[in-house]
Amino acid sequence: MRPIMVAGNWKMHGLSADAQHLTQSILDAGLEPTVPEVVLFPPFTLLHTVSQVAKGTALRWGGQNLFWENQGAYTGEISGSMLRDMGCRYVLVGHSERRQLFGETDAVVLRKAQAALHTGLIPVICVGETGDERQEGKTNAVLRRQIEALTPVLEHQGGGHQPHLVLAYEPVWAIGTGLTATPEQAEEAHAFIRSLVAEHTPALAKKLLILYGGSVKANNAAALFAAEDIDGGLVGGASLQAGEFIQICRAAH
Ligand code: G3P
Repeated sequence: MRPIMVAGNWKMHGLSADAQHLTQSILDAGLEPTVPEVVLFPPFTLLHTVSQVAKGTALRWGGQNLFWENQGAYTGEISGSMLRDMGCRYVLVGHSERRQLFGETDAVVLRKAQAALHTGLIPVICVGETGDERQEGKTNAVLRRQIEALTPVLEHQGGGHQPHLVLAYEPVWAIGTGLTATPEQAEEAHAFIRSLVAEHTPALAKKLLILYGGSVKANNAAALFAAEDIDGGLVGGASLQAGEFIQICRAAH
């Protein structure tokens, strides 16, 4: 059984009361013994609330983004050290919304992943194609470009017992649309991503967690998680509903 991770990306949703309720509900569900890693990615403003509720439990949390400098005149930005100061173990890097809406290039994604690793955070690096790219048969070319841009961090993972980075395949056309990739589509992309990693670091490829994200719901999670190369989920909308997210976590068992 591959280690399974289920992460909830809250995006720009929630106030303190929501974070308190959602985090406590997940803990009250008694998930800890079943799914090795449940990770929450709240907005920066809610990291303290989540950390206060989850402190001392198996629940983990992280930031949705970071800047690559550790401090300085970068108004509005958050550094890896600040995330560590909030007890973060993980940080999302290169989410398609950052790439599409905020112009983050493959080079920026690499720089942020390097900064995360340098700060002792585990980057969850997102890759995936748009609907047009899939329609035009460019999925593998896009994934190759995005993964090869990460070569400097992939090659430094070496053969350690547990890699210090996670990948997430998030087909852009499935994000927020309800158009979940079929388990076959997702498995094909995950297996290809794993083969790309193996071209550089065979030892890493076997141990690397690759999460699927894009309209994961309670009614499709088990079928997705059963796929050989899908090691868990990166859940958006459904992670804001305690009951739905708990069902998704249970499906990972
Ligand atoms: O990072 C996860 C997110 O992009 C997926 O969103 O709402 O399709 O589950 P959603």
